[in-house]
Amino acid sequence: MLWASARRVEIAPSILAADFTAIGAAVREVEAAGADALHLDVMDGHFVPEISFGRRMVEAIRACTRLPLDVHLMVEEPQRHAPGFIRAGAGLITIHFEALPLPLLRATLSQIRKQGARAGVAIKPATPAAALDELWGTFDLALVMTVEPGYSGQPFQPEMLPKIAALAQRRAGWPCPVGVDGGIDEATAPRCVAAGATYLVAGASIFNGQRSVHDALGALRRSIERV
Ligand code: DX5
Ligand code: ZN
Repeated sequence: MLWASARRVEIAPSILAADFTAIGAAVREVEAAGADALHLDVMDGHFVPEISFGRRMVEAIRACTRLPLDVHLMVEEPQRHAPGFIRAGAGLITIHFEALPLPLLRATLSQIRKQGARAGVAIKPATPAAALDELWGTFDLALVMTVEPGYSGQPFQPEMLPKIAALAQRRAGWPCPVGVDGGIDEATAPRCVAAGATYLVAGASIFNGQRSVHDALGALRRSIERV
């Protein structure tokens, strides 16, 4: 597990799907509902088409929760931005494998760890599991994008399940969780966990407004109880 929360599978709600006029309330709701961490999606309009929010949002959220903050950098030049997000209170910085050439990727992961945060590597749907082969041991989370990064609310791509299983096998020897991000709900979470995922990021299924955040998170947790 990533946050030593004593749970085999940890859930990190993504606030990208929350009401941006009431982020503080949304954060407090997921914390009260028992989330293990909070996933914050930073987008720069270059690495992905949209712009979401930046460092000041992370600082503001840091001030209103005790949950660990998991910052997913969907940006070009993540090596330039990571230090500011660590200073803002991120406990985990996840950068994209596709954003940097291998030597710079390694250096950035190492820099993130030196600055006191955990380091994650995310891979887009088109990037194979083997891409991480030379990197095991240099990061703390392998995050499989189960949608194309950029937007909340997209359908889960079931073709990613074999990749999750492959990563769960390939990490052999490294106690590094495999996470999933995109389209995670009560139907897809058990499939990901069965494949070997132990870190689940979920946005729309938690904040879609059909039911309370508490009920949505509870339902997601129950869906993986018997996997
Ligand atoms: C997508 C983001 C995700 C997003 C997931 O680019 O990285 O974290 O918030 O949202 P859902 O769960 O709605 O697919
Ligand atoms: Zn994300």
